[in-house]
Amino acid sequence: MKVDIKYPEQDFYATISGVDVKSISDGDFLELRKVVESCGITVIKDQEVNDEEQIAFSERFGELEISIGTNHKKENNPYLKPQISRISNVNIANDKLIPVDDHKVVFDRGNNWWHTDSSFKEIPAKISILSAREIPEEGGGTEFVDARHALETWNSKPRKYSVEQVKNDITEHSIVYSRMKNTGDIFNDKFKKDMPYVRQRLIRTHPYTKRNAFYAGSHCIHIIGWELEEGRELINEINEWIVNSGEIARHKWSNGEIVLWDNRRVLHRGTGYDESKYRRIMHRTTVAGDKPSYEEEVILH
Ligand SMILES: [Fe+2]
Repeated sequence: MKVDIKYPEQDFYATISGVDVKSISDGDFLELRKVVESCGITVIKDQEVNDEEQIAFSERFGELEISIGTNHKKENNPYLKPQISRISNVNIANDKLIPVDDHKVVFDRGNNWWHTDSSFKEIPAKISILSAREIPEEGGGTEFVDARHALETWNSKPRKYSVEQVKNDITEHSIVYSRMKNTGDIFNDKFKKDMPYVRQRLIRTHPYTKRNAFYAGSHCIHIIGWELEEGRELINEINEWIVNSGEIARHKWSNGEIVLWDNRRVLHRGTGYDESKYRRIMHRTTVAGDKPSYEEEVILH
């Protein structure tokens, strides 16, 4: 197994070669896991997998999340397992393009704003594992930025609030809020009721590296106990700094590639593509967290 790190100054964006995720040995898997947790993003090329194989590989990292309801509209059954989030403009039942104004396509378009997966869930995700099944001829990339680097360089500029001052602050996140803001009001009342605001830490200490990162992105609404606009201003400043302080890893997909990222450290977004013209089929499995982030301890060094 060979590891190549593209941005070594941030220990960010690794590419692995010489492994087959379907038959990876325990020793190689341990090494891969370390790379994923220490580099934020890990690309593994040439991995043709079906859903069962992707789930089996992903479960080696821990229990998987069950995908939220939007992926389980009737037309997906019985084709899709509940651990698979299908990010696609192709109807799984008839293999045809879904109209661009369909709820599913609009929902997926919301992924084009910087976010961290499942931060709108009470127990947020650890690692996302995305498999490229069919990529568009143009566009459809994914970009990643490093919220750990952002935190570690925060005090390099004059700031109203230092990391030390906000280290114990708790925010609220919601996908209803972020989609409402970015794609319009696309959810029915039942979905809104099922997806209440959840509390998250603004700063998280990674359990493996023990390094800290901001935890924000587009689902992050406000800071509990703060005056609304003051909290939003700080969240905006943090989100902008995450994007501008370090490298933007621009990933151009190849078919059969798997990319893993650590949602406790990176924000990501889709770059968009012409959904009326090109097909894009991506299947994601997501390693579930252990507990709500507000129950974690933050250790500043
Ligand atoms: Fe995502």
